[in-house]
Amino acid sequence: MGLYGNMKTNQSDKLLQWYDVAPDSYVTRLKKQLGVFTSYKDVVDFVPRSVWNINSRTKEIKELFEDDLEKHTCKRNGGYAVAIEQKFSVFNPHLGIEILKIWSNIGDRVIDPFAGRDRALITNFMDRRYTGFEISKKTFNQVEKKIKAWKHLNKKFECKMINGDGTELGGMEDESFDFCFSCPPYAFREKYQSVPGQISDMKYPDEWMNALDRTATSVYKKLKHNTYCVFVIADIRHKKKVLPLHCDLIVQFLNRGFNLQDVIINQTNPMNCSGINGFLRNKIMWKTHEYIICFKKC
Ligand SMILES: C[S@@+](CC[C@H](N)C(=O)[O-])C[C@H]1O[C@@H](n2cnc3c(N)ncnc32)[C@H](O)[C@@H]1O
Repeated sequence: MGLYGNMKTNQSDKLLQWYDVAPDSYVTRLKKQLGVFTSYKDVVDFVPRSVWNINSRTKEIKELFEDDLEKHTCKRNGGYAVAIEQKFSVFNPHLGIEILKIWSNIGDRVIDPFAGRDRALITNFMDRRYTGFEISKKTFNQVEKKIKAWKHLNKKFECKMINGDGTELGGMEDESFDFCFSCPPYAFREKYQSVPGQISDMKYPDEWMNALDRTATSVYKKLKHNTYCVFVIADIRHKKKVLPLHCDLIVQFLNRGFNLQDVIINQTNPMNCSGINGFLRNKIMWKTHEYIICFKKC
């Protein structure tokens, strides 16, 4: 069965229209350079590069997952965008679709320790069964409402939110999930609702590291053997230093028994943009990438 096998026809057509553009042009170039294969589809149905460029949302995909929460804005602090409490940053649906396609299968049970806003819908759209933990009651309520109202919801596939601590994953049976897929708060960079256990309120590095350690321990227990776990994360800059959040995550997950399967860079629009003066004065690069960290429980 193709990767889009179970999708509703008009949705899969739209997706394919978007999806085929980049790989085809890439393969055309490859063919010219190497003259090797006639179509990448003869070999694999995506181009397995370790640098991706999935940062845009087509109108069709944007419309599918859109909600009015997106209208909340960030306040600006110098060159940096700092989210205020009401802000829900949204997970890029194209990236979510890509990740689910590669490392999970139709019907899989997917666990998400830090659900945020739209991975529940993206996962349901891809015909996987979803359980997401969200510690903020406010976010939880809004996402629940959004799931209930979503006209594309495929009721054959569970789409469940839990208002609880994703570092603990309480109430979940051990070895009962086929895939873990998440995006934690980037330490204190964005401020989500202040509630006990809220990671964005934790002190860096000690409390942050402990939270990652607990998450790694819980996720490892809940996943079946021979399954993947994918986290999307970016490093942040604070007081002229880079805080290597993706390294922190890798270290804690390796400590708890995961194998590191892949580190992929996804190019993004500038996240922390200190302007051209930041570069000229301090040699600070604009941050235009995030990491897709893939672990395997063997
Ligand atoms: C990075 S944000 C989500 C926004 C993100 N771009 C997304 O949708 O993937 C992570 C979410 O984790 C939640 N969170 C923070 N600490 C948590 C915890 N201990 N357990 C569960 N969720 C938590 C935050 O409230 C926030 O909604």
